[in-house]
Amino acid sequence: MEIDVVEASPAEVAADVLAFAVPEPVELPAAGQELDRLVDGGIRHLIEDGELQGERGKVTLLHTRNTLKAHRLAAGGTGGEADSEGLRTAAAAVARRASDLGGKTVAWILSENGLPADEQARAVVDGIALGPYDAGIWKTKEEHAPIERLVLCGPGAQEAAEEARRANVIAAWTNRCRDLVNAPPNVCTPTTLAEFAEETASRFEHLSYSALGPDEIREAGMGALTAVSQGSENAARLITLSYEPPSPTRGDVVLGLVGKAITFDSGGLSLKPANRMEEMKTDMGGGGAVLAATGAIAELGLPVKVLSVVPSCENMPGGGSYRPGDIITALNGKTIEVTNTDAEGRLILADALSYARRLNPSCVIDIATLTGAIVVALGHTATGLFGTDEALIAEVKAASERADERAWPLPLWDDYRELNKSDIADVKNSGGRPGGSISAGWFLREFVDGFPWAHLDIAGTAYTDREDASRVKGPTGTGVRLFSEFILARQG
Ligand code: BES
Ligand code: MN
Ligand code: ZN
Repeated sequence: MEIDVVEASPAEVAADVLAFAVPEPVELPAAGQELDRLVDGGIRHLIEDGELQGERGKVTLLHTRNTLKAHRLAAGGTGGEADSEGLRTAAAAVARRASDLGGKTVAWILSENGLPADEQARAVVDGIALGPYDAGIWKTKEEHAPIERLVLCGPGAQEAAEEARRANVIAAWTNRCRDLVNAPPNVCTPTTLAEFAEETASRFEHLSYSALGPDEIREAGMGALTAVSQGSENAARLITLSYEPPSPTRGDVVLGLVGKAITFDSGGLSLKPANRMEEMKTDMGGGGAVLAATGAIAELGLPVKVLSVVPSCENMPGGGSYRPGDIITALNGKTIEVTNTDAEGRLILADALSYARRLNPSCVIDIATLTGAIVVALGHTATGLFGTDEALIAEVKAASERADERAWPLPLWDDYRELNKSDIADVKNSGGRPGGSISAGWFLREFVDGFPWAHLDIAGTAYTDREDASRVKGPTGTGVRLFSEFILARQG
């Protein structure tokens, strides 16, 4: 999406839709009153008839019939409070409506409503860029085209320009992550993800790519990633992106990001039920978020070193598959009894976390569609947040709030550690149903050594099948905005 910031009066801005926010109860912004005069009282009319309302996500359209340069006016309802969430929802709803009408350009008038102009700009960019996402790109007829151009105008627009551009970059990478997650598992394989990473690195001078294939993974001693991948015809990859900022960095901090990328999780020999198994194409959502966030960070040239590690393979049943009962040795030398081949994410992450450690990160955050249990605990509203370092957990939580990707902490008390106790190996890979997300977190913790660590379980948030004013069905790209926000806060 292209972004323009103009000083012109809104009446002079050419667009398919010229939009402004209205709260509940309805109150016209100053610009709206001016526009109302130009459209001959048309807006007031709609308000008096009770047709134009400020309910969150409600869109009211008015044809301008050549009284303005824009073809239509849109009032986007933000609901009761003038906050970012309301504005984002209003913008998303306007963009979806504009897209349905074949609109390519949306202009948005910022208001003097108490919310700082840069926060308004960010919410509007997020709503317009992310709202009309089309998960149906594999249909032979296009149904929802994206908005190609956003024009910001009105009070404060100039000052908010930089924030708008930054938000636009992050939103574009969020949509790239959504495309990866949305891609079917016969298209998005470990090699496809590796190619995406390689292509991303080739676009930015300060980003470098490397990847290990199956032989190198085995020879390096990654017994866990080897075991999970051995049932599939599609070769595994351990993908690494390394970002060295162009400008001097703050201290020598290296942020490590690790993302689970199972391109299809059938469960392996502990086969999943058929119902909704197709959704397991999204099991690479953590890895996709890490790759896309690294792209965003490189494009913005943020002054923090980043090391991203994405273990990727398929979890399939077959004659060569790993079995329940197998004992495998992970990269750090610990032995693991496999009690359920469907608890594969923690296995590939175990090796990736040990691998990341060798590259000396200052702290590591991993992100994974790890457990069905987190959906039971937090639903589809929040990501589960775990870790060994209270300060890092607080930092991630704060970033998640700014990013509109809520994450909520869960405990890793010692009491839970024994859930993963094995009679015959150092640990077993499944701790059972009660506290299932916590035992998975504790399993990862057994492989974290020497750095502060946080873990995000996005099994409930990477994908949504609920449709509302601001969300479309399909992948959310969760994690991209969170990581970007995390780094933006660190650079200051
Ligand atoms: N990929 C799944 C978790 C998942 C569930 C992601 C629902 C998205 C939506 C993970 O690999 C898995 O299968 N976890 C098992 C662990 C169990 C066998 C200990 C689970 O949650 O049932
Ligand atoms: Mn699984
Ligand atoms: Zn999985």
